Amino acid sequence: MRPLAFLRKLLKNSDKQSGPPQITARQYIDAEIRGLPSFEKNAAVNIDQCLQCIERIPGILHPMEGYTLLLLAMAAPTNHKIVEVGSYLGRSTCYMALGSMITGKKGVCAVDMFPKKSDWYRGEDGYYHIYGSDYYLPEHIYKERETFLYGDKAYESTLAIFTDIIKRVGLQAYIEPFKGNSLQCAAQLKTPVRMVFIDGDHTYEGVKKDILALADKLVANGYLCFHDYSVNFLGVVQAVNEFVIGSTDYDEIFQVRDLLVARKKSSPPGKAP
Ligand SMILES: C[S@@+](CC[C@H](N)C(=O)[O-])C[C@H]1O[C@@H](n2cnc3c(N)ncnc32)[C@H](O)[C@@H]1O
Repeated sequence: MRPLAFLRKLLKNSDKQSGPPQITARQYIDAEIRGLPSFEKNAAVNIDQCLQCIERIPGILHPMEGYTLLLLAMAAPTNHKIVEVGSYLGRSTCYMALGSMITGKKGVCAVDMFPKKSDWYRGEDGYYHIYGSDYYLPEHIYKERETFLYGDKAYESTLAIFTDIIKRVGLQAYIEPFKGNSLQCAAQLKTPVRMVFIDGDHTYEGVKKDILALADKLVANGYLCFHDYSVNFLGVVQAVNEFVIGSTDYDEIFQVRDLLVARKKSSPPGKAP
């Protein structure tokens, strides 16, 4: 059933109840998430058929931004892995994992706090936060997500939903979930990375922490990417302007909608990695 038909059905079923329809992640996943088409060995991968599967994963990344991540995951130099900060339910992760699969490169380390319901709290500012992060959601968005993610208790945390989705899509061999933050991930990285995508805590301090934790791990000519580089997220803009656009370490800086991409210049001799 197409996404709109599915939502119409839920709305119809909820006519008899009071309040908005209670759509849950399990209902959505059962109805909408499909596996990638299978491809013969050495046959062409039909990317547009794969994109139709990935676009069904809940998330707000635009298809054009996702397609750009896919191409960058293919083009980024070396066979080192990719690190993503802020995976949510796996939409951006799957674009980069597909690029890794097509090129036979190492996949994505997907870093997220992957919260359970009990990891959220209402702050004195009226916003909902995750313990251990400055990340916040306005109350009405948090309440919608609370019903969607935890409403029917089918999954304990977003890690359980994420894991179910990447398995159903068929990209789990190219994705390694990491529950935690960028600093914890960077501390256990044993090799450099070919690409970093940052879409986690959108505050200035949060983005700054992510950049400082991971930018030095990037190989020469590797890509550093950010989502939500827009007027709606001034913390992201400020941190990216200060530490990336204002730095002499990057060239080929470009934007696709709210996705900002910068290529790390070749390291001066003696400067790792
Ligand atoms: C905007 S969503 C990411 C959307 C995702 N990239 C997609 O394409 O659907 C932000 C995610 O960042 C996670 N997050 C928030 N603060 C974080 C932090 N300090 N470290 C890691 N993840 C964090 C949240 O749990 C949430 O899943």
